Amino acid sequence: MTTTASGATHASSQVPATADSAFVRACRGGPASHTPVWFMRQAGRSLPEYRKVRTGIPMLESCRRPELVAEITLQPVRRHGVDAAIFFSDIVVPIAAAGIDLEIVAGTGPVIAEPIRAAADLDRLRPITRDDVAFVDQAVRLLTAELGATPLIGFAGAPFTLASYLVEGGPSRTYARTKAMMYGAPDLWNALLDRLADITLEFLRVQIGAGVSAVQLFDSWAGALSEADYRRYVLPHSRKVLGGLADAGVPRIHFGVGTALLLGAMGEAGADVVGVDWRTPLDQALTQIGPGKPVQGNLDPAVLFAPWPVVEQHVRRILDEGRAAPGHVFNLGHGVLPDTDPDVLTRVVELVHTVSGR
Ligand code: CP3
Repeated sequence: MTTTASGATHASSQVPATADSAFVRACRGGPASHTPVWFMRQAGRSLPEYRKVRTGIPMLESCRRPELVAEITLQPVRRHGVDAAIFFSDIVVPIAAAGIDLEIVAGTGPVIAEPIRAAADLDRLRPITRDDVAFVDQAVRLLTAELGATPLIGFAGAPFTLASYLVEGGPSRTYARTKAMMYGAPDLWNALLDRLADITLEFLRVQIGAGVSAVQLFDSWAGALSEADYRRYVLPHSRKVLGGLADAGVPRIHFGVGTALLLGAMGEAGADVVGVDWRTPLDQALTQIGPGKPVQGNLDPAVLFAPWPVVEQHVRRILDEGRAAPGHVFNLGHGVLPDTDPDVLTRVVELVHTVSGR
């Protein structure tokens, strides 16, 4: 066994088979046999086999059982033939490991027992170590052994999106309390985001050390900010995370929703690949991101409910628009909606592979 610069162990000193996959190649901006495709939230409620294995097991508890995590992560790979697996977990898993009392409520999302509102509350958010998330390390090792040449994507929530849950106490439409802290108590805000950046960095390092082939940093709700505020209050903290992984040897994908005006700044935060939601055509996104960066996206998940010819038209358009990029990873513009017909997802994978095959 040898250890790579990222800390990942491989059975031989050769480059891992995943390095040659269409997904990793596209993330590196190199030539690939076809446009790779995976779906955010591909593991989840759209799959009957997921609903079956999750019966009676609360979400957070599921994330802490390595065999179950491995099974759920593999389900969409088996069913759809996607080009990458995404590790089954949740953005609040490291926050719970850091000492925050929280629950993931079905149909709502993360709910925090005692929100963070004052400096004294920061003490409840300790740094994490590998031991705090040993179940993640175990599950990634099980998965990479099982997946072979299919890459596994690790992920974490970005400091802003995590802070929004911690400060609001749960999901929010306006982020009023989050922004009140950001504008009104910038020292507290920066201290909170700095702690979250450290936790996130360690959480991603554990996944990379255990063998994931890429990571995605989800700043799902950053689109609530103006570019100026994003640059001032958020970008330095996201950069601490992404910059901290610069020599980890795996591509870093950075994604948020409603980020049409933030794409350039999110790329500058240290992303190798910028994820784009469905509101911005990929060719237009590229002019904002600047040359040289591959993109990921961006089919509107709601389009999957339209008749197939409409879905096909959108998939072909997105593949066309993506040709302007040095690399394109096909994905949705946000996660799979729970009522999606999984057969449509399988057809999208087939179509992407057929149309883009070269
Ligand atoms: O397949 C994958 O993409 C991997 C699994 C994954 C989950 N959460 C599983 C999950 C990933 C990547 C996440 C990330 C996540 N979690 C984000 C960022 C991505 C995004 O969607 O913007 C966010 C904001 C969260 C917080 C969160 N957790 C929400 C908003 C919800 C949905 C609430 C609901 O029930 O509608 C969750 C719960 C959650 N995370 C589920 C899954 C499969 C549903 C729980 C269930 O099946 O009961």
